[in-house]
Amino acid sequence: MRDARQEAVVDAWLARLSLRQKIGQMTMAERGSVTPEDVKRNALGAVLSGGGSHPGGNAPADWVRMNDAFWQAAVGDEDSLGIPILFGCDAVHGNNNVAGATILPHNIGLGAAGNVELVAEAAGVTAREMLASGLDWNFAPVLAVVQDCRWGRTYESYGNDPRRAGRFGRRYVEALQGEDIVACVKHWVGDGGTGHGIDQGETTLSWEELEATHVAPYYPAFEAGVMTVMVSFNSWNGEKCHGSRFLVTDVLKGRLGFKGLVVSDWDGIDFLHEEYATAVRLSVNAGLDMFMVPERWREFIDTLEAEVHGGGVSPARIDDAVRRILRTKLRSGVFDRPRPARRPGVEVACTGCDAHREVARRAVRRSLVLLKNAGNLLPLDPASRILVAGKSAHDLGHQCGGWTLSWQGEKGNDTIAGTTVWQGIHALAPHARLSEDGGDADPDRDDVAVVVVGETAYAEGFGDIRSGDEMLVEAGSAVDGLMNPLEPYARSQVLAEVHPEDVACIRRIAARGVPVVAVLISGRPLVVEEEMAASTAFVAAWLPGSEGLGVGEVLLGREDFAGRLPLPWPSAAGNVPRFPAGFGLDYGFDNAVAMAYKRK
Ligand code: GLC
Repeated sequence: MRDARQEAVVDAWLARLSLRQKIGQMTMAERGSVTPEDVKRNALGAVLSGGGSHPGGNAPADWVRMNDAFWQAAVGDEDSLGIPILFGCDAVHGNNNVAGATILPHNIGLGAAGNVELVAEAAGVTAREMLASGLDWNFAPVLAVVQDCRWGRTYESYGNDPRRAGRFGRRYVEALQGEDIVACVKHWVGDGGTGHGIDQGETTLSWEELEATHVAPYYPAFEAGVMTVMVSFNSWNGEKCHGSRFLVTDVLKGRLGFKGLVVSDWDGIDFLHEEYATAVRLSVNAGLDMFMVPERWREFIDTLEAEVHGGGVSPARIDDAVRRILRTKLRSGVFDRPRPARRPGVEVACTGCDAHREVARRAVRRSLVLLKNAGNLLPLDPASRILVAGKSAHDLGHQCGGWTLSWQGEKGNDTIAGTTVWQGIHALAPHARLSEDGGDADPDRDDVAVVVVGETAYAEGFGDIRSGDEMLVEAGSAVDGLMNPLEPYARSQVLAEVHPEDVACIRRIAARGVPVVAVLISGRPLVVEEEMAASTAFVAAWLPGSEGLGVGEVLLGREDFAGRLPLPWPSAAGNVPRFPAGFGLDYGFDNAVAMAYKRK
């Protein structure tokens, strides 16, 4: 009944809207390139904040004020059209653009934690903090099934298992949409399967292989009623997904019966063809419905209008797109919701609240994977003298990674609210001390050292590891369209080659007779033979987010390790994993210190 009523409302709108207004609904602009007056004059369907694009002082109230102004222009004024916009952003590990937000572990850590209800709790924290900022639409969850951890977006995936991606993606969608935030599963399709892990590269697979690995995780999300799908930059067998009528119309909308809206990625249509008109025509006719054209949104509207007048795009295709957009807005409830400034969620002062940070801390504890523990060095005695060192021991930017306050992430502790690994250890072990680089390690002063090493923050292609650019030539030559290679993070998966300061710090301390617990902060597994050989114990902490205390709680035996590798760990040899997916040690029940805490 509801659907029939909603379809009748859509029919009425379609009968009312001009072609240009319909095309406006198909257009999503970036907040920095559009005013509320532009939204009104052009009937824009959505506005987004790109990574790090925030209003005013970046407090929740600034976001509410911004969204309220867009809402007023679209719905509230005498001359408003009356169709609310959707305001979207990438809240991929908490409401991570907003100052003071709870920053959850990135998905790779949730994959290691292996607990689907924890994923639902993470989605709930994210939804509530998004509602407090007056937001409607989250470009999450990523359903990528990573096949090569040289990919810069490995950390946005739950790992290499399609079943886990499907289960976790479903729970995330249920929890997020259950709290009135529209979810967006991405990136359709095969983003995690490109050759050499090149971001936006070429995924060469049979349909059967693509379906089994990269399409399968979407089925549970569709069953859960996910309302939007974002198309991927990558190509499949040489065809860009943004131009693939087979993948978008025949499979997604046809065979799978998806009834929501399909949105492009950031200027994703630009890479279809040098001529913009051709790119627009190809992507609209492939079946995309809404277009993320952050800056060139005026040109997009004019170009698509000309294509319809010229017969390149049919009015029926436009109506299908707008029908899906309006259906999604009706299903999401935005038509019936009060203006952002008066929505119940904005009254809730939950951004970065203790309850949310407790969820994040629990996720951190469960995400840690113990890879080595010679002589049962761990857990540490809280009364012991612990030297804490390493470039990421006291750096919230490193421990949160990309998509945190800015697209590429931060460095240092000036912009993110949280506790570093050092602060977490010191909160539990009063005799701990922080060292710059371990140069002051002294066995007469220090019983043990915790050295926190790994990657600095990155996002998307800037996180790729590419040994040489001949791979790009190979990938690009297979693609019918344009490639967009970004400068890679590194030319090697070997941590000692990329960050030699890390193994140097570990060796400097160990050489003085102080045993080392190495903690790796990274978006993915790396080759760490040298660091592991020089350490007595070794922990993979992934990108834990704002709650570094969670790391200290497990190192000091408050809780046992629970994490298991969500994908194989590479070795220097390359073809044989150092550790298989599913590997992870724990304290077991024969450890006195851990048991001491269990008794408390
Ligand atoms: C980016 C990403 C996509 C994100 C979008 C908006 O390029 O590929 O995951 O949702 O742009 O920020």
